[in-house]
Amino acid sequence: MDASVLGKELLGDRPNLPLERTGPAALRPRKCVTISRRATPLKRGLGGVEDDGACMRERGTVAEDVLNPAAPLGRPSLSTVILLGVAVLLAAWFLATAAAPYLSLDPRYFGGYWPRRGWLLTHIAGGFVALVIGPVQIWLGTTRTHMPLHRALGLGYLAGVATGCTAAVVLAFRTEAGWVFGLGLLGLATAWAITTTVAYVSIRHRVISQHREWMIRSYVVTFAFVNFRLFTQILEVAGVGTRLERATAASWFCWAIPLLVAEPFLQWRKLAHTD
Ligand code: HEM
Repeated sequence: MDASVLGKELLGDRPNLPLERTGPAALRPRKCVTISRRATPLKRGLGGVEDDGACMRERGTVAEDVLNPAAPLGRPSLSTVILLGVAVLLAAWFLATAAAPYLSLDPRYFGGYWPRRGWLLTHIAGGFVALVIGPVQIWLGTTRTHMPLHRALGLGYLAGVATGCTAAVVLAFRTEAGWVFGLGLLGLATAWAITTTVAYVSIRHRVISQHREWMIRSYVVTFAFVNFRLFTQILEVAGVGTRLERATAASWFCWAIPLLVAEPFLQWRKLAHTD
């Protein structure tokens, strides 16, 4: 018999015992935390939802993580601090050397982009907002501090991704660097839209662990253009390929490989919390 069906037979239809897990763990009851209706929106979570008394989500997420008023504030691990620090430094390097020069509005710097400068500047503006807000959001989400600010910046992040992504699709269709390059960046734009949308939908449903995971994926994708620059410059220094070959390879590598590398870390984290 399927474990979830067996679990339901043994435990009945009690809402406090989530049965969505499969395997032996599905049969073990989980501890649920009831949140007072008097709790402040911050204590109740990002959306300020009223608790209906049921165990809201998986263990280690809504119930015991953010909504529990007694839970200690999250302390980011050393690896999180180092990762965020490196990301901020690299993002600053990218914005200063690759994005900021376009603000000069000098046609010589735009080169072939000049006829599409409106779309490029819109894209850079949206990408800039997402790139800058992302680490702040991950920090606030991890430390569970300043949740009203986290919520406001989250909307800013969404707006940045929506703007940057829309312009990116137009740029990808009109690129002069060939269809393989264009398709790579179209894939990147799709990944950007999907990861960010799932992160948003997760928080609307108050599934904090899922929101956290998809926001990390979303920021890994946001970071892709920084990787693009790094990757092409390393290949250039190494004397590998032509400019077009390097850019074409980067249009796929800059997001597919980081997403792949991030995944085992995200899954490992979940396994480590499985009882
Ligand atoms: C993550 C999703 C992103 C996608 C799908 C994307 C897509 C694109 C596309 C299609 C182009 C034009 C390429 C060409 O035709 O040569 C472009 C250029 C550019 N993008 Fe993005 N981009 C993304 C993120 C970002 C972010 C976060 C920034 C940060 C501000 C950014 C900054 C730039 C810059 C500065 C250029 C001009 C090319 C250069 O000088 O390197 N992009 N992007």
